Amino acid sequence: MVNVAILGFGVVGSGVYEVITKNNEIIKQRAGKKINVKYILDIRDFSNHEAANLFVKDFDTILNDDSVEIIAEVIGGATFAYECTKKALLKGKNVVTSNKELVAKYGHELLQIAKENNVKYYFEASVGGGIPIIRPLKTCLSANQICEICGILNGTTNYILSQMINNDKTLEEALKEAQEKGYAERDPSADIEGHDASRKICILSSLAYGKRVDSDKIYTEGITKLSLEDVKLASKFGYVIKLLGHCKKVGDMLDVEVSPALVPKHHPLAPVEDVFNAILVNGDAVDDTMFYGRGAGKLPTASAVVADVIDIAKSDGFDPSLMWTDEGSDKIIDHLDSKKKFFIRLEGVKDVQTIKSNFDAVDVLNEKNECVFITGIMSEKDINDKLTALNSKIVSKIKVI
Ligand code: HSE
Repeated sequence: MVNVAILGFGVVGSGVYEVITKNNEIIKQRAGKKINVKYILDIRDFSNHEAANLFVKDFDTILNDDSVEIIAEVIGGATFAYECTKKALLKGKNVVTSNKELVAKYGHELLQIAKENNVKYYFEASVGGGIPIIRPLKTCLSANQICEICGILNGTTNYILSQMINNDKTLEEALKEAQEKGYAERDPSADIEGHDASRKICILSSLAYGKRVDSDKIYTEGITKLSLEDVKLASKFGYVIKLLGHCKKVGDMLDVEVSPALVPKHHPLAPVEDVFNAILVNGDAVDDTMFYGRGAGKLPTASAVVADVIDIAKSDGFDPSLMWTDEGSDKIIDHLDSKKKFFIRLEGVKDVQTIKSNFDAVDVLNEKNECVFITGIMSEKDINDKLTALNSKIVSKIKVI
């Protein structure tokens, strides 16, 4: 039997308890031993819960019980959760988590502590909720050099963009609807400003390249500047707009960013709609692979947390395939130097020929008082310089993949 403690009995924590309880027999078969929830840490009152006797309010009760081998940290945040995780790993306990903020910020340090104490720190649920992505990267694709990762990593913004694309909703209308449906938080900034997706691409790129990608150095742009007009004009050019987390190896540098992007309608990420997530991984041997599913929610996230628990129950010791070091965080290309195409809307420019030659643009649409076009592949700095020289109002400038 393996004893587990769940830290935090919110949406994910209660899902973890539910999955372990409901699927106990099948889990026992697959883990080779019974998984037993011994404690649940939460400061709130659960005296009427069926598992009332498992609740404790003091983390030390769990920490000092040597029979607890695995801790499922689903508290969130990077303060109390960080302290608990560090103490648990130092005490020789394995930790699993869905906490993307903590893994993105302190993953390098916590993995090193796990290594020194010969235990595991697993976080399948931190990216893509229920979608298997960490395990495929560290095992199934481990023979590859990863060339590129590109994904829709945030369900809330994908829902909002889907409503704008398919139902002509404005961003404000779609956000309000997402809040009413419980997808978006009352304070939606982590999602709509791109921070949630940024933490997720930070984790994926750190794992893929084995070196810490500093989350503070990732260029992050959310969806707040997008308008329904952008969505409609993008469609005229044959694209949909998605919020993408993108990481690409360029020589020995990494090009990592989160930003809205025009995605061709025939691209595999284009039909990924509503709250669904999808992640494309390109490896030098395997070529393109894609992972799709529910990126959030109680049971999908719990599914990934409990899978980590089962994996740990099957084998002792540190897992060297899930590791990144602290070196190399300065090897990120400045986003202004990275080369790509852009979709641009300019107000008050009439000279189509100048646009075509300055920006290597093939089609230029004249819409109302605007010039709308897609540039050739250029650095953002180069584009910005040329736009400044035109001295006209930039209505929109969005990356194109
Ligand atoms: N708020 C996140 C999303 C959920 O909308 O995808 C889990 O990270």
